[in-house]
Amino acid sequence: MQNTLTIPHLVDIKSLSRDQIISLIHMANNYLTHDGYQQLTLLDGKSVATVFYENSTRTRISFQLAARQLGAQVIDFSQLGSSVQKGESLTDTIATLIAMGIDRLVVRHSDEGTVATLANTFGNKAHFVNAGDGASAHPTQALLDMLTIWQHKSHFEPLRVAIVGDILYSRVARSQINALHCLGVSNIRVIAPSVLLPQEIETWPVTICDNLSDGLTDADVIICLRMQKERMPLDLFPDVNSYHQSFGVKASDLANAKPDAIVMHPGPMNRGIEIDNTVADSKQSVILQQVRNGVAMRMAILAAIAM
Ligand code: NCD
Repeated sequence: MQNTLTIPHLVDIKSLSRDQIISLIHMANNYLTHDGYQQLTLLDGKSVATVFYENSTRTRISFQLAARQLGAQVIDFSQLGSSVQKGESLTDTIATLIAMGIDRLVVRHSDEGTVATLANTFGNKAHFVNAGDGASAHPTQALLDMLTIWQHKSHFEPLRVAIVGDILYSRVARSQINALHCLGVSNIRVIAPSVLLPQEIETWPVTICDNLSDGLTDADVIICLRMQKERMPLDLFPDVNSYHQSFGVKASDLANAKPDAIVMHPGPMNRGIEIDNTVADSKQSVILQQVRNGVAMRMAILAAIAM
């Protein structure tokens, strides 16, 4: 397949146009085969490094698989066991990887803006993909989520999308809202207790709901989010049982949404807190489809990135 989309880096959804998002969705969808992904040679002779300073299962492994499906060599860097433990800075670590000839780096870091800074500093030598920076952005997750929504709903504009959970600390929510807005979705609801909403929420293109029944009414898409305890001050963490009662998505809550609503979750799930087993494992759940789409979307992103 001819690759017509070229981007230097992927730092944030905001740097993509609607047409570019649609192209990535189509490219990724074409990479899916009935039991896996196409095996291509687009990145033959190239190397891709996954550089993760935070924990990950799905994002890291799916990028590694995606790079292999495109023919690239994959180098996995994690700070544990590396010279970071001896005091090496992030910049020196990245310069070291680039000096070895690696020119595609997929980076996750707990500090917001890290990948943008790296792209500014090393952008003439290497390509950067943001695999999540603090609570700021997780563009590749949002793109695989858009692919999943498109596979079920075909059109974005008329959709009612409900995002439930910890919005305050969620980079996924921020990137999803940017992507949905860019694709013309005007009915985006966020459902959360006020302590889990950011101050600037008033400036976002969303409606705020403080209860599940209003927020899920006639929803086409329900996105559940985990409480990001690792970013929360201890005293902010709400009482888990009362949180689950009010904001955990239970089978009975689905009755408020459209009968064909899909249930999504970026993972990792905390079953029994933000989502019940009966919802996570229901026919409406597309959570494992999101995981499968993650490899195809990350293939599309790596294929779109070129010198
Ligand atoms: C998300 C992340 O790391 O931001 N997970 C993911 O990449 N699939 C969400 C989360 O950790 O809750």
